[in-house]
Amino acid sequence: MARIAVFGLGYVGITTALGFAELGHSIVGFDVSASKVESLNLGLIPIYEEGLLDSLKSSTDQNLIEFTLDPKAALKGADFVFLCVPTPMKVGGSADLTYVDTALSLIAENLEHQTVIVLKSTLPLGTGNSIKDMFTNLRNPMAYNPEFLREGTALADFRNPDRIIIGADDTNTAAAVAEIYKTIDSPVLLTGFGEAELIKYASNAFLAVKISFINEIAHLAEATKVNISHVSKGIGLDKRIGDKFLNPGPGWGGSCFPKDSRELVTTAANVGVRLGILEAAIAGNEEVKDRIVAHAHNALGSNLSGKRIAVWGLTFKAKTDDIRDSPSVDVIRRLQAAGANVIAFDPVVKSMSIQGVDLAESALGACRGSDLLILMTEWPEFVEENANEVAQSMRNRNLIDTRRILDHSSWERHFKNFIVLGGVS
Ligand code: UDX
Repeated sequence: MARIAVFGLGYVGITTALGFAELGHSIVGFDVSASKVESLNLGLIPIYEEGLLDSLKSSTDQNLIEFTLDPKAALKGADFVFLCVPTPMKVGGSADLTYVDTALSLIAENLEHQTVIVLKSTLPLGTGNSIKDMFTNLRNPMAYNPEFLREGTALADFRNPDRIIIGADDTNTAAAVAEIYKTIDSPVLLTGFGEAELIKYASNAFLAVKISFINEIAHLAEATKVNISHVSKGIGLDKRIGDKFLNPGPGWGGSCFPKDSRELVTTAANVGVRLGILEAAIAGNEEVKDRIVAHAHNALGSNLSGKRIAVWGLTFKAKTDDIRDSPSVDVIRRLQAAGANVIAFDPVVKSMSIQGVDLAESALGACRGSDLLILMTEWPEFVEENANEVAQSMRNRNLIDTRRILDHSSWERHFKNFIVLGGVS
């Protein structure tokens, strides 16, 4: 079993640390945030993510994991150090590698022996080479092992990945990293560092394109009164296409797809390559939100001032508390810009700082006195709401279901306008 240091305890770092501990490795997690380290050492998880709490308890009980603010202590005797620090986007679309640089400097200062450095953070193309140029004194073996963890199912994705990608310039290093995953029964691809960088970006880009494609077809289905749910199913049954990521909705959001797709377009442009399909997918993702706002105008008129709009769901998808690049927040901003008063409810987001948005204490509470309800996130609790009660509480009975989760037969009759994005199933 290996001794592994994990630098950066965000949702990727904590999941990686706990996932490796479950495989029996001995883990030390390091972060610069005292409050994060303290809460993890107290057995608390500072983020909202299913399964992590139980996993932490079990690994702590077996003495397999600890957390520290001391980088030297974290690296002492480590066979591997995994870098899981954020790579946010700079203005202009390229990645900000400040956290990666800072973490690597700390590692370079504190390493005692031939620890293998494994980068997990999403790295723009060419980062491997830039690191080699910048950290010439760092002679340790280095690999890139991109994460494909979805928020909400991150630990399950770690335990049962579709594939494990390990990029390194020499095969011995890649093989050594593969060894720590050996009890996971998933395909492992050993490849070059640059190839692993492109695999990560191209995977996210492909999924974003796939969703934008189905959203475009959903627009057509809505216009021609064709049932998009059946169309999605019919397309997805073709094994070459596959049935995943074909759910139409209010557009893709979150901490990865929007950032990574823009970064890839920018990086490609810097080497003279235009990624037209991805650019179209990004534009299409904005158009979906335009369509939601257009539906609001169709229901309430061109001037939304004095109109009260209830929004169900703030997170970019269900099972997370993340509102980064959330279509809901984007649509709310556009509605406010058109003069509407917005009152929102989300089962997990209990405070947020969008100026002028009130947060209701319940889904029904948000609807009271409103002129329009827009369902933006597919939280299962919304499906359980009583359609009659919701409609009764509203001043005007207009509803837009952007996730297509409300049962048409029980909801439609209570509303003057029951609009389903992509058309009624
Ligand atoms: C994504 C990738 O899936 C993961 O591999 C990567 O490491 C990080 O980025 P995540 O951002 O957690 O994960 O969310 P994901 O479940 O992929 O959904 C992304 C967005 O696409 C969400 O806004 C979601 O609502 C939307 N989506 C997804 C659809 O609109 N339709 C679908 O069929 C699937």
